[in-house]
Amino acid sequence: MEAKRNILITGGAGFIGSHVVRLFVNNYPEYTIFNLDALTYAGNLENLRDVQDKPNYRFLKADITNAEELDKLFATHGFDGVVHLAAESHVDRSIHGPTQFALTNVIGTVNLLNAARNYWAHNAAPTGVERRFYHVSTDEVYGSLGDEGLFTEETPYDPRSPYSASKAASDHFVRAFYHTYKMPVVLSNCSNNYGSFHFPEKLIPLAINNIKHNFKIPVYGKGENVRDWLFVEDHARAIDVIFHKGKDGETYNIGGHNEWKNIDLIYLLCKIMDSKLNRPEGTSVKLIEFVKDRAGHDLRYAIDSSKLQNELGWVPSLQFEEGLEKTVEWYLTNEEWLHHVTSGDYLKYYETQYHQR
Ligand code: NAD
Ligand code: TYD
Repeated sequence: MEAKRNILITGGAGFIGSHVVRLFVNNYPEYTIFNLDALTYAGNLENLRDVQDKPNYRFLKADITNAEELDKLFATHGFDGVVHLAAESHVDRSIHGPTQFALTNVIGTVNLLNAARNYWAHNAAPTGVERRFYHVSTDEVYGSLGDEGLFTEETPYDPRSPYSASKAASDHFVRAFYHTYKMPVVLSNCSNNYGSFHFPEKLIPLAINNIKHNFKIPVYGKGENVRDWLFVEDHARAIDVIFHKGKDGETYNIGGHNEWKNIDLIYLLCKIMDSKLNRPEGTSVKLIEFVKDRAGHDLRYAIDSSKLQNELGWVPSLQFEEGLEKTVEWYLTNEEWLHHVTSGDYLKYYETQYHQR
């Protein structure tokens, strides 16, 4: 049994955050889990319906760009652990509007670091509780690989999109707080995630949704870019392990050793969709459309996660084919979710039915 703790998880209504909140709420009944989220277009409380009434779960609607509000929340709830996921997360949106990425990802992270530092400097930790600020980041900060090699924790930063530049800046601030103020921080940089509750603007859920509706599947360029895909529940388990067992000041890379060219991934997805939708094999591939490439499109990401595996004993649990099939099944049986998150209905429902506690 762990000590009682008040854990703040930011961005818990988003894709990965909702899996982290669910895991912490279910695995640690002795903790109180505060999910702080601004509920942007990407945040949906419907992602957390199954835990919203648990006694150790609380939702706080707040914006990390509002420093004063964060200070008040620390004073009111006395958070002693932070798992920070709130961010603008979509590369294409960052290309169209970089400023919001600087505000949320950089200023928002600095605000949160300041709030934790100020509160922790003036209030002793409860007996037996070790404070920790965990910053969740991405492998995209390392830039783009050629045909060979893997990103390690020592790979120099070389962000190339406004999204990855903003995440890199936030990582640097977190490390600066460790060195300058001795803040007990830990970081992780993870590869591309897939799984349930993924907002349908990212490649996999977008393609599933389009195939289902017989819309075109837009593949950027020639589809030759490579991503290293990890099942989101494996990422959430890694975050749990690192939060509890990682060393202060350290960074851990998280990845699935699972590289796929975009076009090969789409072929596999089409095959699974044909089978699940009882369509003749070869039906969905006809929807593939090669479109103008993304500006500055990183060629290849691939992660070496041996530090996390060797030092903390984490291993991915699923083969990609199995995970992708599970993901497709989830989307096909949760059509209502897809409709709600894309139409904003659930937010209206939430505002009338479920009051902030
Ligand atoms: P997401 O876009 O699905 O969710 C982001 C959440 O943050 C949403 O709930 C949104 O409402 C909230 N949010 C945004 N701005 C906010 C603000 N100003 N104040 C409070 N809340 C705010 O993102 P995701 O894919 O779940 O990613 C979560 C984290 O993991 C991000 O930090 C991202 O950089 C990182 N990451 C993502 C991936 C991936 O494949 N998706 C991979 C590695 C790392
Ligand atoms: P995405 O899911 O946006 O993640 P990221 O850019 O963070 O890796 O994209 C994954 C890959 O798929 C990336 O190489 C861009 C490509 N892509 C497409 O080809 N078509 C699309 O419609 C989208 C959204 C992405």
